[in-house]
Amino acid sequence: MSDHLDTLCIHAGQEPDASHGAVMTPIVLSSTFAQDGPGNHRGYDYSRAGNPTRDALEKCLAALEGATHCVAFGSGCAATTAVLLALNAGDHVLVGDDVYGGTFRIFDKVLKQFGLQSTSIDMTDVKHVREAMRPNTRLIWLETPSNPMLKVFDIAAIATFAREKGILLAVDNTFATPMLQLPLSLGAHLVVHSTTKYLNGHSDMVGGAAMTSDETLAEKLHFLQKAVGAVPSPFDCYMLLRGLKTLGVRMERHVLSARHLAEWLGSRPEVNHVYYPGLATHPQYALAKKQMKGPGGMISLELRGGLPAAAAFLGALRLFVCAESLGGVESLAEHPAIMTHASIPPAQRAALGINDGFVRLSVGIEALSDLQADLEGGLKAARAAT
Ligand SMILES: Cc1ncc(COP(=O)(O)O)c(C=O)c1O
Repeated sequence: MSDHLDTLCIHAGQEPDASHGAVMTPIVLSSTFAQDGPGNHRGYDYSRAGNPTRDALEKCLAALEGATHCVAFGSGCAATTAVLLALNAGDHVLVGDDVYGGTFRIFDKVLKQFGLQSTSIDMTDVKHVREAMRPNTRLIWLETPSNPMLKVFDIAAIATFAREKGILLAVDNTFATPMLQLPLSLGAHLVVHSTTKYLNGHSDMVGGAAMTSDETLAEKLHFLQKAVGAVPSPFDCYMLLRGLKTLGVRMERHVLSARHLAEWLGSRPEVNHVYYPGLATHPQYALAKKQMKGPGGMISLELRGGLPAAAAFLGALRLFVCAESLGGVESLAEHPAIMTHASIPPAQRAALGINDGFVRLSVGIEALSDLQADLEGGLKAARAAT
C-alpha cells in the first residue's frame, strides 16, 4: 500500500470484508465468538480481548503514525492511564508543564496514591529536562503543541536526550495529528491521542489510542487493554474509522482558517495576545515550522478586560459554540480556567498565563468569512463589557 497518509486514512486496515465483500468495515457487535473446540478459535474469543472492527481501526491508526502497533481505548484519558500503568510504583515521570487538565489530574489525583511520582516542567529548553531528571525517571510525557498555551517542544532534541538516558518519550499528538507531525519519526517511543478530537473530527464519539513500534511496550499495552478493559465499543471504532477518512482534507482547512484568524486577531485592539505556532511572534515559530507540516487549528488568546470581557465574548459568539473539546468540523470556544483546565492548581495556571481573559478557540471548517464575522461580534461584546 502507498505510504501517503491521505490514502492510508481511507484504506489502511480496511480491506473489503472477506465474508460478504462489504467495502465499509462491518461493525461486529458480538461480545463473544464461536470456538471450533475449547481454545480453538478463529482469531477472536471475546471482544474485550480483540474485536474485528477494533482491529481495523488499530491497523489504520498504527499506519498513520508510522507505528507497528496501535492499542485503542475508550477515551484519551484511558489511553494515558494505560501508558502510565505500564510503569511501576516509585517510578518518576517528567511531564510538560502545559497539558490537558484531565491528564494532569491522572498524575496528581489518581496515580500519585499508587506511588507514581511526577514533576511538571517547561520543556521549551531541553536543559530543564536534563536538570529535572532523577535516578528513577522512566518516562517523559509531553503534548506539543500543548493545551492550551500552544507551546511547541522539540521532539527530536528531547527524544535524543531520552534515548541517551534509556528512558521513554511519550508524545500526546492530539493537537497536531499525524497529518501535521509524526513524533515516532522524530525519535519518540510512543504516541498518544485523544481520538475524540481531530482524528474522529465530528464530535460524536469519545476514544483514545497509543501507538508504538517498541515491541515490549506494545505487549504491555495490549495486556493492559485486555486486563484493565477500558476498550472502545465496536460502534465507536466504526465512527472513528469513518471520521478518519477525511482527516487530510479537514486538517488542511483547519490550518488555512486558523492561520488567517490568528493573524487577524493579533491586529485587534481587544486582544492582548494571540498564541498560535504559525505566527512569527510565537516563541517557537521556527521550531514549529521545522517540526510540523502546519501550525494546526487551535488558537488561544488573551482578551483585554479579564473575565467580563471573556464572558461577553463567549456569550456573543453564535457559530463558535461555547463548549469543551476541540478538533471537530464545528468551531468551538471555551474558557480554560473555568472549563478544561479547572483541575490545574490556580498558581500553576497563573504561571502559565491561563488567566481570566484567556480563551481557547477550536477553528472548524465552516466558511472562513462567517467565522471571522462571528469573532468580530464576540470582540464587539468584549469591548462593550470593559
Ligand atoms: C491533548 C489532550 N489529550 C488528552 C485528552 C483526553 O482525552 P479524552 O477526553 O478523550 O479522554 C484531551 C481532552 O481534551 C486533550 O485535549
